[in-house]
Amino acid sequence: MHDILEQLERKRAAARLGGGQRRIDAQHSKGKLTARERLELLLDEGTFEEWDMFVEHRCTDFGMEGNKVPGDGVVTGYGMINGRLVFVFSQDFTVFGGALSEAHAEKICKVMDQAMKVGAPVIGLNDSGGARIQEGVASLGGYADVFQRNVMASGVIPQISMIMGPCAGGAVYSPAMTDFIFMVKDSSYMFVTGPEVVKTVTHEEVTAEELGGAVTHTTRSGVADLAFDNDVEALLMLRRLYNYLPLNNREKAPKRPSNDPADRMDRSLDTLVPDNPNKPYDMKELIVKTVDDGDFFELQPEYAKNIVVGFGRMEGQTVGIVANNPLVLAGCLDIRSSIKAARFVRFCDAFNIPVITFVDVPGFMPGTSQEYGGIIKHGAKLLYAYAECTVPKITVITRKAYGGAYDVMSSKHLRGDVNFAWPNAEIAVMGAKGAVEIIFREDKADPAKLKAREAEYAARFANPFVAGARGFIDDVILPHETRKRICRSLVMLRDKKLENPWRKHGNIPL
Ligand code: COA
Repeated sequence: MHDILEQLERKRAAARLGGGQRRIDAQHSKGKLTARERLELLLDEGTFEEWDMFVEHRCTDFGMEGNKVPGDGVVTGYGMINGRLVFVFSQDFTVFGGALSEAHAEKICKVMDQAMKVGAPVIGLNDSGGARIQEGVASLGGYADVFQRNVMASGVIPQISMIMGPCAGGAVYSPAMTDFIFMVKDSSYMFVTGPEVVKTVTHEEVTAEELGGAVTHTTRSGVADLAFDNDVEALLMLRRLYNYLPLNNREKAPKRPSNDPADRMDRSLDTLVPDNPNKPYDMKELIVKTVDDGDFFELQPEYAKNIVVGFGRMEGQTVGIVANNPLVLAGCLDIRSSIKAARFVRFCDAFNIPVITFVDVPGFMPGTSQEYGGIIKHGAKLLYAYAECTVPKITVITRKAYGGAYDVMSSKHLRGDVNFAWPNAEIAVMGAKGAVEIIFREDKADPAKLKAREAEYAARFANPFVAGARGFIDDVILPHETRKRICRSLVMLRDKKLENPWRKHGNIPL
């Protein structure tokens, strides 16, 4: 017995050492933590239950039969984040560069399958040189097995990817199908083909960081949600995000008690919107002043800034917030912002998170680049997302809601449950100036007459009461009571039930 215990301890120690001290030191010297150190930070202390520590690869080519490391380059298992279950895998760059073998993929698939059975999220910490080159197609098959599970788990359990090192080639497509991607600045990158291939094919010279670093993906491509300075910050923020999410699609998000009163009034909101309708203001101020304790977890803050998305809480309950931001592009909807918000709304809908929408939108962005880029199709994504969404939907129009964008932004017509407008909201086909220039074209030569027509149009339509008269707006509310009215609406909507007709799946314009 003693021998067996010693043997077990020896095997465990070997597995814990991964690719050895030299490679661990190399990992640290790059400012990166090891796979196990990362899990220690991510999970509640002492909660990690490791699986498959003794799994080894089965490759016999290229001298691999004599080169085995227990665990085979990925640490897997489950643990707790603030007392709530989570399944994890953490790739170990010190073992064959974290490259994915058939056995490595099987370990990941095992935790994903178990997570689906018990209904708990999966978090993947990615740090890998890609497919295990010595294994060839067996490794590619392993990737596909993971992809298939990513797709089956989509909308059933939350899936979160953290990119903490290389993630290239086929490896990018597993994170791409998860709900959120976080990246670490300067030490992580994601691309389909690396700088060398890019140079050969397109003659572009670009560094790995420029091509697929954290800044690139959080500002230009929109592939990733958030970028962090180092592993520690990234993992702590991941814990924060986790607290907003339900464990699966049949549960509600956890409630976090707050002392912030539901009826808290904020008089400063009465002057948030400037008198001049063309002057911008920061919609984030409204968000922060509305949610519990001013605590807003923004996603993609540096990408498509004309729309703001993220999580907050109202009376302790997680809500998803979508808001046009007049500070950027006057809050217009364009291709990027439509896609960004559509994906967020669909996440909330899949996971029982009510959606609160703050609207100040002058319309869709005009221009050839938008039309050639397919704004029709991409704008339709947001419309589709709101229209199919069955979770509680509350909308507050703070200023402009013009044209088709009015319809799109969680309007009554798309089954908005509660639709409020602030007193100076303008719900119309377009602004008074543009409208008059079209319908009174014959007065073009007479600026005085045009001005008078404009004032007439504004008085008739640039207010919330025409929409209110038709019941498209449930109430006109004072800005300072916004939080109170939303909280009450959420209580009313707590047991909302709405189902879409049976279908295999819809056909969202992609
Ligand atoms: N398969 C097998 N082993 C791999 C590997 C892979 N895909 N990627 C890296 N490794 C091994 C290296 O051989 C090296 O082993 P060693 O420690 O025994 O010398 C170790 O992982 C670390 O790699 P190294 O190249 O020294 O690290 P780096 O930080 O300088 O570079 C990469 C990292 C990912 C850029 C580089 O390893 C690379 O280009 N790998 C191949 C990527 C690829 O083409 N993957 C297949 C297609 S998806």
